[in-house]
Amino acid sequence: MIIMANQQLILYFSYSGHTKKMADELGRQLDGATEVEIKTQKPYPKDYNQALGVSHLEYSNQLLPNLSNETITNMADYQQIFVGFPIWKFSVPMAVVSFLNDYDLMGKDLYIFDSYDFSTQNNSRRDLKDFLNLTVKDELSIQSANTLHPAELIAQWLKQNKINAK
Ligand SMILES: Cc1cc2nc3c(=O)[nH]c(=O)nc-3n(C[C@H](O)[C@H](O)[C@H](O)COP(=O)(O)O)c2cc1C
Repeated sequence: MIIMANQQLILYFSYSGHTKKMADELGRQLDGATEVEIKTQKPYPKDYNQALGVSHLEYSNQLLPNLSNETITNMADYQQIFVGFPIWKFSVPMAVVSFLNDYDLMGKDLYIFDSYDFSTQNNSRRDLKDFLNLTVKDELSIQSANTLHPAELIAQWLKQNKINAK
C-alpha cells in the first residue's frame, strides 16, 4: 500500500526537548506529515526527582493525566501514525497513553520512536498492548545525546521499514 504524506501523523510528548528533536527531524524527512505535540494540562515539575515521583505515581496506578493539546478531528484520514516520547520508568509516559486512549486506532500502522538515557530495553510495546491493546509495528530508540543529530538514524529506520519519505 502506498501511503501519502498527508496520511502520516506524528504525535509526540517531550519533557526536556530530546524527543521533540526526533519528531521535528522525522517531520522533515516525511515531508508533509502532520505533527502534533501531546501536552498535559498540568505541566510536570521542572525538578527531575519530582517529575520522577509524578511519573511513578501515574504509571503504577495507570492514571491518565488530563491533556491540553489540540484534538485531532480527522484521525480517519491518517494511516501511518508515529508516536514519540521519552522513556519514563522504562516505559511510555502516561500522558501518551492518555492521548491514545481517546482515539480508535484499530487498523492503523503504528510506529513508536523514543529517546532514553540508559534503558536500551524498555516496556513500551508491552504496555501499549496491555493498556490499550495497540500493536506497534516497529520502534526507533535513540539515546538522548544522539538526538541532537538524529537525521541519519531516522533515515535508516524509515528505509528499513519501507516508509515513504522524501
Ligand atoms: C520522569 C523521568 C523518568 C525517566 N525514566 C527513564 C528510564 O526509565 N530510562 C531511561 O533510560 N531514561 C529515563 N529518563 C530519561 C529520559 O528518557 C531521557 O532523558 C529522554 O531523552 C528525555 O526526552 P525528552 O527531552 O523528550 O523529555 C527519565 C526521565 C524523566 C524526567
